[in-house]
Amino acid sequence: MPETADLLIKNGMVATETAVFPASIAIKGGKIAAIGDAAEMPPAAEEIDAAGLFVLPGVIDVHVHFREPGMDHKEDWETGTRAAAMGGVTTVFEMPNTSPPVSTAERYRQKRAIADAKAVVDYGLYGVMSEDNLAELAPMAEAGVIGFKLFLGNTTGNLPCPSDGAVLEGFEIVSHLGKRVSIHAENSPILFWREDRLQAAGRNTAMDHLLARTDVVAVEAMVRSCLFAEWTGARIHIVHESTARSLPYLEFFKSRGVDMTVETLPQYLTLAVEDMDGPLGNIMRMNPPIRERWQQGPLREALAKGTIDMISTDHAPHAPEEKVGNRIWDIACGFPGLQSQLPLMLSLVNQGLMPLTRYVQISSANPARAFGLYGRKGVIQPGADADLVLVDMARRETLSADKLVSKGKITPYEGMTVSAWPVATLVRGRPVMRDGEILANPGWGEEVVQQMPPAAPRNVETQLGYLCGASPAPAGDPS
Ligand code: DOR
Ligand code: ZN
Repeated sequence: MPETADLLIKNGMVATETAVFPASIAIKGGKIAAIGDAAEMPPAAEEIDAAGLFVLPGVIDVHVHFREPGMDHKEDWETGTRAAAMGGVTTVFEMPNTSPPVSTAERYRQKRAIADAKAVVDYGLYGVMSEDNLAELAPMAEAGVIGFKLFLGNTTGNLPCPSDGAVLEGFEIVSHLGKRVSIHAENSPILFWREDRLQAAGRNTAMDHLLARTDVVAVEAMVRSCLFAEWTGARIHIVHESTARSLPYLEFFKSRGVDMTVETLPQYLTLAVEDMDGPLGNIMRMNPPIRERWQQGPLREALAKGTIDMISTDHAPHAPEEKVGNRIWDIACGFPGLQSQLPLMLSLVNQGLMPLTRYVQISSANPARAFGLYGRKGVIQPGADADLVLVDMARRETLSADKLVSKGKITPYEGMTVSAWPVATLVRGRPVMRDGEILANPGWGEEVVQQMPPAAPRNVETQLGYLCGASPAPAGDPS
């Protein structure tokens, strides 16, 4: 234990993956220095009295869209990371469907320069995996992307879905790089076909968006992804799992030992297509779609019990005028989520869906493990980064657009009451938000340091890189 600390968080209830207990936390040099009784803590230059509050590891959100470069009328790195800080989120992984998309190491470096100058929380950046950039995957990994994003389904940015041939080769390549591929699992040919047919029939309602992307569109693309991952040894992460009909297949592939993780979003657990008839209907348009209310129960259960590993937001802001229109097909897809994930999910904790310890696991520890950050982040223990969120578990608030710091000032949660609220966010020991006020300057956020386990490629003797002479002979194929 150091003789002095920079900051002491006193009198709070510390929540970890395994326990909730009263303790003080001493912070020095941006790291947690000690956890224990207040009487045993070293004297500190500053103190925060957390009496009546819970102290959780900061939320790690592996799925956000900040739109810069190219679409910064929707969001930019400063407004996006301020939204994160307001929501108790201390690390974000940002998606590559910006303009231009992050498809080369050079573009990754360009985005990193923007993020470095503007972010108020820590971050990682995805590179995209597409049909025409397979040769860039290794250089992007080398340069430092947190992982790759594969858009099998069409969405904002209109990145074309690669052919199955390109996807399988992409998986072969990343199986050697060890990075995780985060997959938007929707079948593009089916959804385009159905959209065209429905539009031609003059169908234009919110329900028609759901029908174009009916459950099998998501289930098929997820199953195909898992099969390719099992075959190649590529690590995958299924983003925004939206349908209860996926659950048996997720369990099946997990039971076969596929190196896969799965996220769902608060919107699939709290909103329903039945509500899309109402005034907030258009705002709810997103991909994959928000489905029938009956699906909430099984998805919630899967998140509580472990078939689904983590909660993310798919923070997808658009300018408010892009979210209005007469035809559902003309409405931009997605809405902000960074400020509402923790209040919504902890309200479900308060209602008994899962213990607080499981929330810590799905919001912080599991994301850290899946992407090679655990130990430094995702945990409250000596030596870890002091990334923390102080939460009032008994504070009632009403969600509304006028509280959003995102540029996407429009929300389907308008008027919804929550029963928990983040009151302070610390990134590497520094308060970046306190009582709804942003305290950090742009540029405080840093890119995360990732350490993935060794790569584990399979069926290497059938891989195109080897067969076509682009990579050396396979060594140590465990398959
Ligand atoms: O609705 C969505 N919006 N779904 C996605 O997958 C992407 C996101 C966006 O970038 O706007
Ligand atoms: Zn997304």
